[in-house]
Amino acid sequence: ISELQPTILTIFGGDGDLTRRKLIPALYNLYIDGFLPGKFKILSVDQRDVSQDDYNKRHYEGVNQFSRRGKADKEKWKEFEQYITYVQADITNNKSYNQLKSIFSDIDKEWKVEASRIFYMAVSPNFIEVLANHLNKAGIAGNSEKHRIVVEKPFGHDLESAKNLNKVLQGIFSESQIYRIDHYLGKETVQNLMAFRFANALFEPLWNRNFIQQIQITVSENVGVENRAAYYEQAGAVRDMIQNHILQLICLIGMEPPVDLQANSVRDKKLEVLHAIRHFSEDNVYVNAVRGQYDKGWIEGNKVKAYREEDNINKESLTETFAALRFFIDNWRWQGVPIFVRTGKRLQETTSYITIQFKEVPHKIFPSGVRELVHPNLMVISIQPQMGIRIHFQAKKTGLDMQLKPVDMIFNYSDSYSNDPPDAYETLLNDVMLGDATLFMRSDQIEESWSIIMPILDVWASNPPQKFPNYPSGSWGPPEAEALIAHDGFYWHTFT
Ligand code: BG6
Repeated sequence: ISELQPTILTIFGGDGDLTRRKLIPALYNLYIDGFLPGKFKILSVDQRDVSQDDYNKRHYEGVNQFSRRGKADKEKWKEFEQYITYVQADITNNKSYNQLKSIFSDIDKEWKVEASRIFYMAVSPNFIEVLANHLNKAGIAGNSEKHRIVVEKPFGHDLESAKNLNKVLQGIFSESQIYRIDHYLGKETVQNLMAFRFANALFEPLWNRNFIQQIQITVSENVGVENRAAYYEQAGAVRDMIQNHILQLICLIGMEPPVDLQANSVRDKKLEVLHAIRHFSEDNVYVNAVRGQYDKGWIEGNKVKAYREEDNINKESLTETFAALRFFIDNWRWQGVPIFVRTGKRLQETTSYITIQFKEVPHKIFPSGVRELVHPNLMVISIQPQMGIRIHFQAKKTGLDMQLKPVDMIFNYSDSYSNDPPDAYETLLNDVMLGDATLFMRSDQIEESWSIIMPILDVWASNPPQKFPNYPSGSWGPPEAEALIAHDGFYWHTFT
């Protein structure tokens, strides 16, 4: 058992989708691996009238379905279940917080210590402010040394609402108590960007405009909107994926080395990248940003519907399910290096990777016929489902004459490590319990990220797309995304 302080984790939205798919499976795995505090309690707070037994059963099935380990061990689950108390409560009602207060004081008495309280807000964003105010009024989250809140994305709907939410939360809690989730930061391969860049001397000297010609980030999914119509209609691909996950990937690729791994050392360096990202202006949005919406098509041999035909989606919806953008970072390291980003639903594959394309050799010494095969070196950082790094370069083909053949140097997680990587939520929940905010978003990062994408959202909102849907399900997005990158003389690197 680790040395974590006694902890009560209260999950608002304790019977919701996120809790079932991610939080309980992650907590169960932390239990199996011995990473929960010796004194630990989960209070699952939700509205539904459900018995403790039924709650446990539903979440046991959730673990079986969603845990990275697959089916839960029955006996281990029985032990783990002891931690969970289901609390039926209305989170908009004062009484609920009095109820929590008395539960906390009973547990504190039993444990003979004031436990650390973590309030995980796994609820719709409209409730965050309400929750925060209630916690404040009830005086149950005020100890800034011991009590923390965890806020899920989306954090705001635009710059203004994000600022307001920050203001409300910072009026009640100190910044060090607030853990804003971006689950990409918990992914092993995303954390590895820091290890790869700053634990190796080999690559860092090349990591700049002198050697790198362009960078591409693809985060594609073959799923559609699933059952999230109400949220997604209001969000779209830029809000859903770029404002948070993809801008964070750009930060990790682009940042200067921090002096250490303290939360604020790292977050300061990331913020510098966000500050340096060139802001779009009203008249260049169309040169730098492409939007798309999926039409019907085929995914893995199955016929799928167009976005507008999905359940609870407006038949004339203008929500983008795809976006491709060109970013620049205006600083010494990155001046002039384009960063092309594409993300979308119902694309050909679910895959995420970053491609670093290096500059051409300055002079090709090879004879005609061979010279043409001297392509720029590529480094492909695979985030998921493949996990690893591949360096693509030319080598001499074995034989009597000088022929070239592209080859790969490959690092695969599965070849190098025998243990299963933890899920992002395991890492992040563990960090919240440890009080380590490095992998969480600070208020200024959130606001800066919103301010980068606001011009796109504003221009798009006032100029409806001319042709939606504009890409078939199962493709790599609309032709305009190819044109965006072809304009600079490049093409999307697609690895399947
Ligand atoms: C979420 C988005 O933040 O990330 C979803 O809201 C998306 O739309 C998901 O599907 C992707 O996460 P992952 O971990 O599956 O890449």
